[in-house]
Amino acid sequence: MSHKAHCLILPYPIQGHINPMLQFSKRLQSKNVKITIAATKFFLQTMQELSTPVSIEAISDGYDDGGIYQAESFAAYITRFKEVGSDTMSQLIETLTTRGYPVNCIVYDPFLPWAVEVAKKYGLACAAFFTQSCAVDNIYYHVHKGVLKLPPTEVDEEISIPGLVTIESSDVPSFVSTPESARALEMLVNQFSNLEKIDWVLINSFYELEKEVTDWMSKLYPIKTIGPTIPSVYLDKRLPDDKEYGLSIFKPMTNECLNWLNHQPISSVVYVSFGSLTKLEPEQMEELAWGLKNSNKNFLWVVRSTEESKLPKNFLEELKLASENKGLVVSWCPQLQVLEHKSVGCFLTHCGWNSTLEAISLGVPMVAMPQWSDQPTNAKLVEDVWEMGVKAKQDEKGLVRREVIEECIRIVMEEEKGKMIKENTKKWKELARNAVDEGGSSDRNIEEFVSKLLTISY
Ligand code: UDX
Repeated sequence: MSHKAHCLILPYPIQGHINPMLQFSKRLQSKNVKITIAATKFFLQTMQELSTPVSIEAISDGYDDGGIYQAESFAAYITRFKEVGSDTMSQLIETLTTRGYPVNCIVYDPFLPWAVEVAKKYGLACAAFFTQSCAVDNIYYHVHKGVLKLPPTEVDEEISIPGLVTIESSDVPSFVSTPESARALEMLVNQFSNLEKIDWVLINSFYELEKEVTDWMSKLYPIKTIGPTIPSVYLDKRLPDDKEYGLSIFKPMTNECLNWLNHQPISSVVYVSFGSLTKLEPEQMEELAWGLKNSNKNFLWVVRSTEESKLPKNFLEELKLASENKGLVVSWCPQLQVLEHKSVGCFLTHCGWNSTLEAISLGVPMVAMPQWSDQPTNAKLVEDVWEMGVKAKQDEKGLVRREVIEECIRIVMEEEKGKMIKENTKKWKELARNAVDEGGSSDRNIEEFVSKLLTISY
């Protein structure tokens, strides 16, 4: 196939950022755009699964043997990534040109705003790809502008931001509300530093989900919502089976999970996952374990191997001995296949943005147990705006107790409120599908992006 445009994609090298950019890349490629993903050497080494139809080339963040874990601090990592990353991206652009594949456009993660300078140096078009919700981006924008000043003076201070429902201070991203996250917040606020110089701001969300905030942000930047970026086969059954999920740091226990789910009754299982990064306090892990057990529901729980030692003593052994197949604990699962499985009736989630979008797209009611980063804001929207779940309340120590977990699961799976939530999930699932279907809001935005790309000549 001869391509008319070539996008170089630069993700921030963590699972939750690389996944949506890879899926977006696949969509662009299906529209005849050549794609090259620039991934750090360390990220490439840690990949367990590397099956992707798009090409991947290595760049360097300056820490080839350990990535961020090798850096003395987060600030040091970001600074060195900028220096070494700019050079190695430039070399890559030149190499691709020499090979006969000149790049037209850089699509970069705004955690790495220096990519704009690289694009300008070579006269390339440039698009930022925000992997978080438009609501969360809007909050960071207001911190960037100095309009939103936190930490709050009161525990439940109300906050009004244009384009958003009124939120409380506990609903803002953790980096904004906790002073010790100053470095991370600086990076998040810096996402806006070069935006006036670029051609597009792409957001992994869909218009119908975040209408007001998208309209508001569109007055500031050339916003295009292009999500949900989940593989099209999960949204459209007519497409050929393409369940590969591309780039994964962890190896999914696919057969164990699907075999176990196949033996459970319809809508009976609570699926539990806290994504790729979140670490729970040992006491929280204990509360969660007993909350699940006491709920009397069947559960499939992803406990990453680094978290396993926090499980209560004998918990796994007791599970294995239990007469009815009550629970399965795995180190990683094929989440989309699990969420679309007919046995799953509830998703107990940390509300990472990918997990939230995946639950919305596959119509799974949620129990929201946000931990940090953008998760508190996503959880607020899930419960109060989209009404797709309930949020499990923390106590004064910041822990969600077993009784609360048990109660939330019961509400979602058994009560009248759960039925209302289930009805809502059907509505959002339909809207998510429509957005990416031919002629839907996100599909039109991607089409416009691609046709503009083709008309610009360099
Ligand atoms: C991080 C942040 O924590 C999150 O808040 C932010 O919105 C994005 O970056 P992460 O914590 O990993 O991401 O959560 P999430 O955004 O939900 O992404 C996790 C991804 O891993 C999802 O795409 C999910 O499908 C996948 N996953 C998770 C699996 O494939 N298998 C699993 O067992 C668990």
